Amino acid sequence: MLSVTDLALRVPRSPGRRCLLGIAGPPGAGKSTLAERLSAELTRSGLRAVVAPMDGYHLRNEVLRARGALARKGEPDTFDAAGFVTDLRALRETPIGEPVPWPLFDRAIDEPTEGGVVVRDKDIVVVEGNYLLLTDAEAPGWAEVGELLDACWYLDAPRAVLTERLLHRHTAGGRSAAEATVKVTDSDLRNADLVAASRHRADQVLTAVDAGYRIG
Ligand SMILES: Nc1ncnc2c1ncn2[C@@H]1O[C@H](COP(=O)(O)OP(=O)(O)OP(=O)(O)O)[C@@H](O)[C@H]1O
Ligand SMILES: [Mg+2]
Repeated sequence: MLSVTDLALRVPRSPGRRCLLGIAGPPGAGKSTLAERLSAELTRSGLRAVVAPMDGYHLRNEVLRARGALARKGEPDTFDAAGFVTDLRALRETPIGEPVPWPLFDRAIDEPTEGGVVVRDKDIVVVEGNYLLLTDAEAPGWAEVGELLDACWYLDAPRAVLTERLLHRHTAGGRSAAEATVKVTDSDLRNADLVAASRHRADQVLTAVDAGYRIG
């Protein structure tokens, strides 16, 4: 088993240049949790790290509603993939010290917030989200993401664990048990299957165990 400290030592780094580590995986796998833990550990060890979630590239609800896609929120085409790619490139190409605004997703209002974080002096950015390892055949517009990352890990979790976490999230967010079940079955787990098809492209696959993570 690897601790977060062990994992932090495996994060790519390159003096003088900003490195981007991706953490891909299905909804509810624990990507945001791992990304925050890694960023905190890297910071503790004296590096300058920050998390840049893919979530901030959700299209706004009014845009999704106008497209008749609100019920499918979370699928690849309900995100601004082009904006995500543009901003990943900016993270790579902007010299350390200059600002790169990055949107965040606010679960309380279910909308992105522009420039939620500004990346400036960080030399490691942990990019986390579902769709970091897709091909254009799987979802148009996403293939460039993988090319912009220095490495990409995949965080896996058993389907039963994903299901339980997602049901809990949706009921805590105000859905009835029946509505939560429909959302998980018709949407989240379908997205999880699409993400799972990209697992083999990851540089390493992790699964959470006890207080740490194991490879594979
Ligand atoms: N290693 C872990 N052990 C136990 N529970 C965990 C672990 N990592 C995350 N969780 C729990 O699982 C749930 C989902 O975690 P998290 O929000 O990090 O997942 P995610 O992959 O970012 O989900 P999403 O794709 O929906 O953003 C949270 O309740 C979190 O506390
Ligand atoms: Mg998350």
